[in-house]
Amino acid sequence: MSKAKVGVLISGRGSNMAALLYAAKAADCPYEIVLVAANDPDAPGLTLAAAEGIATFGQSHKGMKRAAFDAIIDAQLRDAGAHYVALAGYMRLLSPEFVSGWADRMLNIHPSLLPKYKGLDTHQRAIDAGDSHAGCSVHIVTAELDDGPVLGQTPVAILPGDTPDSLAARILIAEHQLYSRTLADFVTRERQPDWLLNRVREAALALPQADEIVSHGMPCFGIVKGKKFAYFTRDHHGDGIIAVLVKTTAPDEQAMLMESDPERYYRPAYFGNDWVGIRLDLGDTDWDHIGTRLRSSWQQVAPRKLMGLMDVADQF
Ligand code: GAR
Repeated sequence: MSKAKVGVLISGRGSNMAALLYAAKAADCPYEIVLVAANDPDAPGLTLAAAEGIATFGQSHKGMKRAAFDAIIDAQLRDAGAHYVALAGYMRLLSPEFVSGWADRMLNIHPSLLPKYKGLDTHQRAIDAGDSHAGCSVHIVTAELDDGPVLGQTPVAILPGDTPDSLAARILIAEHQLYSRTLADFVTRERQPDWLLNRVREAALALPQADEIVSHGMPCFGIVKGKKFAYFTRDHHGDGIIAVLVKTTAPDEQAMLMESDPERYYRPAYFGNDWVGIRLDLGDTDWDHIGTRLRSSWQQVAPRKLMGLMDVADQF
């Protein structure tokens, strides 16, 4: 199975990046690092990554508008083929465009037990508050700073006499372990059948008058009392494939798609030429594209009176 491609953004030392990179050397690690980029060309982490044979990019953000600088980083990540982004001590606020471009595919590590102590000086604040434990969190990045669903945390006991530095040093050990483990879990969830089915289900059931039944042993989505527009297949007849089957919009579209990306698209057995299978188990599924395909499949089978509903939905 191919490894998930991860781009890492750093600002300085890059010890979390190094932890991710060393973990990725294990043969069974489900991700690989395809780029390390920094907003400081002299970030020590870049030298470390380059010595390990990883592509690097460093450019100062100084004097640039936030969105313009983020667009440069975004282009570097996409050119490198990154499918996920891991922020590892990247000390820059991100533009909304950048965040939405990597929605649900960008993680951050933060040195506190979120939701406590967002922002800076986390160690000092935990000590000042008299907390028994500080720690670290890995979370999905959303528009709000240090917000977004927490995927994993490690509590670290605060010792008598701890200073922010002594506490930070111990938390860093926990960070290095937590980040690679959480990232590995995160990139593999996109290959788990139940997670994939839920994504398809969410998109399919959001369409007007859609419902779900089981047909030929497959979860299947159709219009209430009407025709089916999508099937979810998981190892059907032992083929080992996880895919969604949708109706195409034109007779030769199936052939065109299969030719454009033979690994992803296939002709589903027993479905004829106007359906196409789209594999979901390749680890780089474009969910916007799946949404578009489900929608156009719905349009192929929807009765005229329902098409109006879709037109209304389009206006919002
Ligand atoms: C880490 O402790 C990380 O959690 C923190 O910066 C340090 C970077 O160290 N990140 C934040 O505070 C983000 N809000 P590193 O460069 O050695 O990984």
